[in-house]
Amino acid sequence: MSIFVFDAYGTLFDVHAAIARFRDKAGPDAERMSEIWRTKQLEYSWTLTLAGRYAPFWTLTDRALDFALARVPSVDTALKPQLLQAYFNLDAFPDARAALRTLKSKGHKTGILSNGSPEMLDGAVDGAGVRGDLDAVLSVDVLKMFKPRPEVYGLVTKHFNCKPGDVTFVSSNRWDVMASVSVGFHGQWINRAKYPDEYPDFPPERVLNSLTELAAAA
Ligand code: LAC
Repeated sequence: MSIFVFDAYGTLFDVHAAIARFRDKAGPDAERMSEIWRTKQLEYSWTLTLAGRYAPFWTLTDRALDFALARVPSVDTALKPQLLQAYFNLDAFPDARAALRTLKSKGHKTGILSNGSPEMLDGAVDGAGVRGDLDAVLSVDVLKMFKPRPEVYGLVTKHFNCKPGDVTFVSSNRWDVMASVSVGFHGQWINRAKYPDEYPDFPPERVLNSLTELAAAA
């Protein structure tokens, strides 16, 4: 039995699914706006944490969308409430549910460790119908600091009352895998986008193309 802990946004839930629901209305710059939205959301989480400050991830998601819409004026700002609602009930990647079920059927424990605030994680987990496939949904909100602070990853070992070496941490964000390896987890990188590798001092134990591959090998 292993403990498989997943990043939420970008790994189980598709951060670009919100814009995908409104692609026709959003116009030709929809993808660019969505990329800026995600980049700024993460940047705010890192800069606030470096400054010793905190605001919930939902607030940062809202502010990042304001910035992205201002940077890409061709996307109608009237879409903002609908985009935010879509982000709250974000679609899971098509392979997420089956992968979690396979892991559970093989006797493993499963969980989420996310920057997401508890309400938005509830919205995504329930929207995707994966609540019953998860043993834990852990939010950084209790610590008021974001990944990649090591304290945050400590929430996992505390919750499962285990050692770092008992945890397989799965993320499509290479920086998140870096931090998980740094604290002694078995980091596995889901590289759907086929990005070049980074952080050579903290290599992932495995690089996988999909959650299906991960579950099959578990
Ligand atoms: C999360 C962000 C980093 O779910 O994707 O923690």
